[in-house]
Amino acid sequence: MNLLVIGSGGREHALVWALRKGHDASLSIACAQGNAGIAEIAECVQINPTDTGALAEFAVEKRIDLTIVGPEAPLALGLVDEFERRGLLIAGANQMAARLEASKAFAKDFMARHNIPTARYQIVSSPEEAQKILNRGEFGTENDPVVVKADGLAAGKGVVVARSRAEAEEAINDLMVGGAVGAEAARRVIIEEALAGREASLLLFSDGRDYALMPAARDHKRIGEGDTGPNTGGMGAITDASVLDEETLQQVVREIVEPTLEGARADGFAFRGVLFIGLMLTEEGARVLEYNVRFGDPEAQAILVRLESNLIEIMESVARGAGLDRTEVRWSDESSACVVLAARGYPARPETGDSITGLKRAAEIPGVQIFHAGTARSAEGQTITSGGRVLGITSSAVDLDTALRRCYDTIDCISWNGMQYRRDIGRFGGRKK
Ligand code: AMP
Ligand code: GLY
Repeated sequence: MNLLVIGSGGREHALVWALRKGHDASLSIACAQGNAGIAEIAECVQINPTDTGALAEFAVEKRIDLTIVGPEAPLALGLVDEFERRGLLIAGANQMAARLEASKAFAKDFMARHNIPTARYQIVSSPEEAQKILNRGEFGTENDPVVVKADGLAAGKGVVVARSRAEAEEAINDLMVGGAVGAEAARRVIIEEALAGREASLLLFSDGRDYALMPAARDHKRIGEGDTGPNTGGMGAITDASVLDEETLQQVVREIVEPTLEGARADGFAFRGVLFIGLMLTEEGARVLEYNVRFGDPEAQAILVRLESNLIEIMESVARGAGLDRTEVRWSDESSACVVLAARGYPARPETGDSITGLKRAAEIPGVQIFHAGTARSAEGQTITSGGRVLGITSSAVDLDTALRRCYDTIDCISWNGMQYRRDIGRFGGRKK
């Protein structure tokens, strides 16, 4: 069987690892574009994940049986639609469904239409309109927090949790006038009520008819310990029973998961792919912060180390749009952790090209997976840093403490110039305002 995985981060390394698990060498996996870790278990091909035509041609030429998409950009560009036009099997959201992530305004209106609990919001098209809304005070006084979001894809830079109206005004100006995320992504901006609570990421597989939940995860978005400093793509993730208690999970399934999948069907885009629901667990119940139409990174790493079933079969059902109800989706009842090691300067200006030492020794530690993200092989054959998030040290164990201890023991072996990571993953329970 020939598989193709699209993407080059830690999430994609975890996907390739999980797809390969339990299969022999007759399983061929290509990855566009991959990284130094993926290159050890798959064939990396240098096609840009947003070059939809070249990817489809590659899939035809190499007789790819199934393609799995990691990042959002190709989904929003219609990669799945392009593959399906050519009769190729691909697991991922089509362009219509990808709007749930690619347009926050679309997602908010979708939630309003289908009565899905989320923060109160207004969509504005100019700073003047924004100013009027803020002055009206429906999101609180001058000293209350308020959230400002660019409508379009902004690689994690489009959301500002402003602590006051003045900060919100500045954020709106940066987005709509200052070009902080590009003009197209910020043509419209969402002003939103600030919610307080702990966050959780609930992901699921859906074939358009049936769905299967993954273990709930918690990301750690801020760069600094104690949830301080700027937001990042994610500095670590855990899965553990404490992330989402059974009662809240049932509320989320009833009020959020099922209305979302039914709403998508009612709106003419039965959701096929991986749906990621970002939740705020407020005192009044769970609220949706955002949808993503893909695996999270680093959530995928922490989740996939607990998968006991065959990921290829699951992804085949998702891609075919049928059969998920007959496919086993079983998770170990352990807890897991992924601690991200990032480059100096991340997230603003990561430095690259540093040699990473200690990987061989680290790989000998049992019960730990070292997923590569921004890594490359130098001309001398050394593994070097090539991006902001570099490695995701991941472990699954009988309890969270054990999983974390294994991750941090492994990290003690690894170093490079300027390596940074959070020592409080899983210990600092997410922001509470
Ligand atoms: P999003 O990309 O919409 O999930 O936003 C990124 C991060 O901003 C979230 O993970 C939250 O930490 C924060 N955030 C987004 N919306 C809100 C909100 N309404 N209230 C408080 N924090 C929020
Ligand atoms: N870790 C958050 C995301 O992948 O969007």
